[in-house]
Amino acid sequence: MVKLLSVAVLAASSLPQALAWGAMGHYTVAYVASNFVSSKTKTYMQSLLADTSANYLASVANWADSYRSTTAGAFSAPFHYIDAEDSPPSSCGVSFSRDCGSGGCVVSAISNYTTRLLNTGLTTAQRQDAAKFLVHFLGDIGQPLHCENLDVGGNTIDVTYGSSSTNLHAVWDTKIPEKISGGSTMAIAKTWAANLTAEINSGTFASQAAGWVSGLSITASQSSALTWATESNSKVCSVVIPNGVSAVESVDLSGAYTTSATPTVRLQIAKQGYRLAKWLDAIVAAV
Ligand SMILES: *[C@@H]1O[C@H](CO)[C@@H](O)[C@H](O)[C@H]1NC(C)=O
Ligand SMILES: *[C@@H]1O[C@H](CO)[C@@H](O)[C@H](O)[C@H]1NC(C)=O
Ligand SMILES: [Zn+2]
Repeated sequence: MVKLLSVAVLAASSLPQALAWGAMGHYTVAYVASNFVSSKTKTYMQSLLADTSANYLASVANWADSYRSTTAGAFSAPFHYIDAEDSPPSSCGVSFSRDCGSGGCVVSAISNYTTRLLNTGLTTAQRQDAAKFLVHFLGDIGQPLHCENLDVGGNTIDVTYGSSSTNLHAVWDTKIPEKISGGSTMAIAKTWAANLTAEINSGTFASQAAGWVSGLSITASQSSALTWATESNSKVCSVVIPNGVSAVESVDLSGAYTTSATPTVRLQIAKQGYRLAKWLDAIVAAV
């Protein structure tokens, strides 16, 4: 969809930074979270979302991407990213006052929907929306190019991926996650999430997981979300375009580039899934 819009249209509007992690990334973040929430959180969220299946989080993980393209949901389009006006690859960084536009951004949205999910005075439908937004936005904020303004978050950097023509943003949203996991279905996401869960419990990520959630605070939600955005944005300098735009422009990124990006994609998805679990636990403990 984004590719059909001209660069001028993209630049002139605050619009579509593509879809965020594609469906695969969002499903996987949700399944990782499902594997770490407390039993109290599981029961609470299954009841709120009226879904007692094991897929209660994954099934709503991509709702926000459909909603943003409806007339009623257009207001939420800027909530999927924060346009950091830094200078990668030499200098990365996010500033809330500089980068969160007047229409909001992923950092303010996480704060807003955390407050709304905590507010039992809202209607069930409003709190369901808040939960669905959080499941989605805690995923988006982990995608480095959702925390970057340069070239519309990489949307206007044309690249190839095997035989397809695409752009750098879509490679990070969709191509690399699908290459790592082997597909795009919920069942494949569940299998990938099981692998990342094992890595958190006793593998590569076991020594890091506590650090991912240290300082996490639902009462200082904007500050927690800004920390996540800053960390994600730093990967733009170190992994996404460490040698600048010219090193990826028109290049086939399906080989060596994907190999070097894979550890970061796995890390960001595992980390945001784990954080989502602890975030929902903190909310459910407080309502
Ligand atoms: C908070 O969420 C509500 C419901 O979606 C929305 O109407 C409002 O604009 C949001 N506020 C901010 C500051 O994002
Ligand atoms: C997860 O998948 C990777 C890549 O296939 C594999 O190397 C690793 O051993 C798996 N980890 C676990 C804990 O199964
Ligand atoms: Zn999104």
